[in-house]
Amino acid sequence: MKEQDFILKSYDATIKQGAVKWESPSNIALVKYWGKKEHQIPENPSISFTLSNCKTITKLTYTKKESRDFSFEVFFEGEKNEAFKPKIKTFFERIEEYVPFLKEYHFKIETSNTFPHSSGIASSASGMSALALCLMSIEEQLTNAVTSSVVEKSFFNKKASFLARLGSGSACRSIEGELVVWGGNKSTESSDLYGVKYEGEVHANFKDYQDTILLVDKGEKQVSSTVGHKLMFGHPFAQERFAQARNNLSELKEIFASGDLKAFIKIVESEALTLHAMMMTSMPYFILMKPNTLEIINKIWKFREETNSNVCFTLDAGANVHVLYPYNEKEAVLGFIEKELASFCQNEHYICDYIGLGANQIED
Ligand code: PMV
Repeated sequence: MKEQDFILKSYDATIKQGAVKWESPSNIALVKYWGKKEHQIPENPSISFTLSNCKTITKLTYTKKESRDFSFEVFFEGEKNEAFKPKIKTFFERIEEYVPFLKEYHFKIETSNTFPHSSGIASSASGMSALALCLMSIEEQLTNAVTSSVVEKSFFNKKASFLARLGSGSACRSIEGELVVWGGNKSTESSDLYGVKYEGEVHANFKDYQDTILLVDKGEKQVSSTVGHKLMFGHPFAQERFAQARNNLSELKEIFASGDLKAFIKIVESEALTLHAMMMTSMPYFILMKPNTLEIINKIWKFREETNSNVCFTLDAGANVHVLYPYNEKEAVLGFIEKELASFCQNEHYICDYIGLGANQIED
């Protein structure tokens, strides 16, 4: 599909008001997206596990209005929130062409996260995807009124992902589960414009895969991902990195089919460290890992060597560590985390999550 296919052409804007509600999860990339072109077009394809427990719940109430400006208010965890408004306004400006009813309504956005606000877990993926899904439900309500044909599920999901991408790139991978690919590539049916459910064969070893998120640093990131992506322009290793990501994705495809966990670990850990290596070798350079991030990585390597476990780690653009492991190792790995890793987390805090099926609409 092309960008033009997502422009909403006819709808009934005489509808006075309504409300929709969605919960949408976070996701964790296995092959990382780092570096983009204009309009949030990724330089390389990425693939992620959709999570289950870490999610954003957003209710969007819309009321017909007269003026032709954007009008919205935001409530975060029950309190009026001004800080989120500039990001949402930018999002609205970027997507207005595709959802032209935006200026015809006043929106009340009520949102909350299931994970603690200052946990260092980025809420942009779950937050932007939840908002995009709410807008798609409104689009559905406004179009159902003028045409008898229903908005097809696959179009709904693609456009929700397309809109979410314009809010925050990785948010486009949060609509569906369990594995989502985003970015054009030879080996999967995917697009630069939106994320799609990975349709290749997936071995039972990856069923119910676990992700325990170790909260090493709950503070604000010193460098935003927007700035980080920009630093890939003119980065001396950029082209090699983009080629490596493409290659890793096609290798992962075979690994998903064969269930080869040792090969999976090599790619996933290398991706995480390469992401951070790109940060350390950009100009200006920066480091988002903390001493405890490295302590944890070394402990994981030691545990794996001693026990032949299939536990591994990945990292986001931050200091927290995502500990990934198969479901059948849950008891052993959770015991290890409690005994040996929890002390490296802020207030010994970690969040147990696992691979999920994607976003859900909530009847209010
Ligand atoms: O979606 P953004 O622009 O915040 O970028 C996210 C980038 C990483 O989380 C570091 C990697 C990824 O693919 O999710």
